[in-house]
Amino acid sequence: MIADKILVNFQQIFCPIDMGHPLRGADMNEATIIEKGYIAIKDGKILAVGQGKPDKKFMNANTEIIDYTGKFATPGLIDCHTHLVYGGSRESEFAQKLNGVPYLDILAAGGGILNTVKSTRAASFEKLHKKTAGLLDEMLIHGVTTVEAKSGYGLDWQTEQRQLQVLKELNKDHIIDITATFMGAHAIPVEYKDQSEEFIDLIIEEMLPEVKKENLAEFCDVFCETGVFTAEQSKRVLQAAKELGFKLRIHADEIDEIGGTSVATEVGATSAEHLMVISEKGIEQLSKANIIGNLLPGTTFSLMESTYAPAKKMIEKGMAITLTTDCNPGSCPTANLQFIMQLGCLMQQLTPTQVYNAVTINAAYSVCRNKTVGSFDVGKNADITIFNASNIDYTLYFFATNLVNEVYKNGELVVQHHQKVKS
Ligand code: NIG
Ligand code: FE
Repeated sequence: MIADKILVNFQQIFCPIDMGHPLRGADMNEATIIEKGYIAIKDGKILAVGQGKPDKKFMNANTEIIDYTGKFATPGLIDCHTHLVYGGSRESEFAQKLNGVPYLDILAAGGGILNTVKSTRAASFEKLHKKTAGLLDEMLIHGVTTVEAKSGYGLDWQTEQRQLQVLKELNKDHIIDITATFMGAHAIPVEYKDQSEEFIDLIIEEMLPEVKKENLAEFCDVFCETGVFTAEQSKRVLQAAKELGFKLRIHADEIDEIGGTSVATEVGATSAEHLMVISEKGIEQLSKANIIGNLLPGTTFSLMESTYAPAKKMIEKGMAITLTTDCNPGSCPTANLQFIMQLGCLMQQLTPTQVYNAVTINAAYSVCRNKTVGSFDVGKNADITIFNASNIDYTLYFFATNLVNEVYKNGELVVQHHQKVKS
């Protein structure tokens, strides 16, 4: 078959191995790194990836050849846990945070997530659409081609619906592909203060069926945390979501360990999120149940905590992990997945191969897009992120700057010289 275009002369190409399931334990150390390689594209899909000069059988006079001498390429990066759709911002709480007021105390006083709920309720569809598109642009120029994004700053049906509609619209309008998650159980809204059971009834009886009916989300997520939702309440929501056909996630062991990992195993979640304070037992449970750990070291960093999720130990115990931004206005205001990957190395002692497996193939499994993205297997979408670096180590060692120079989405050049070139 003849390629439409062939990207040639890469110094290194990182090729994750799609084993038909997320890479767990020692398999996270496996990948092929092609030295001096090429990527051939046909109809927006991967036609071939190989070493040296591309085979003549892929070329004719119409094949475009693009030179990437000295560059490093990976499958498009996947940010598999974000809270992208929100109104306002929270720098007004920054001084409190710097003075040591804990995250959950700010929330208990009506700030934090509830602060963002006020601004999100007040924001129109257009406003939210524009703001979220801006964040997606930022992610794209940092090398991300697929994201997961949650609702959860409405906590009333109108606003939750608006957030999810924004995501649905942007999935069509924006270059980045989006998987949507309904997270009505993100906090207890002021109008339900001390009536959390009634709020859960509302989520189960009214919101979840409506999200399903309007096909607004594929996943359901819950914040299982002290002062937010108990393990029992989280289980109620997730069980109801499961019965309606949603796939499940759970924010577990982020600040306090209150049983979220047990809930994840009981309901059969696809992933458990954060896991900063997970116990040995929790690691064993998730490992045994093949639940992916979505780890968010940027949140630990931004909350100024010293305990990072024990990523190394999780891998030793056979878990599959991903790294992801958590991009949100409170606990992790960043859209730069590269920085999160660098934290994965510097603060969690992950190896570069583990880090790239985490944000490509494992993240693809986490968002259930493994059939189409996450590796350079022939026939998958030609989503390609190209770094201004000659090798994998450099991209993690030189931190907190944008090293991504080009991005291809479905075989089309969409970012060049750190700028979006196509909308
Ligand atoms: O994943 N933990 C709950 N939700 C987000 C934070 C949201 C916010 O602070 O606005 C998180 O950390
Ligand atoms: Fe989160």
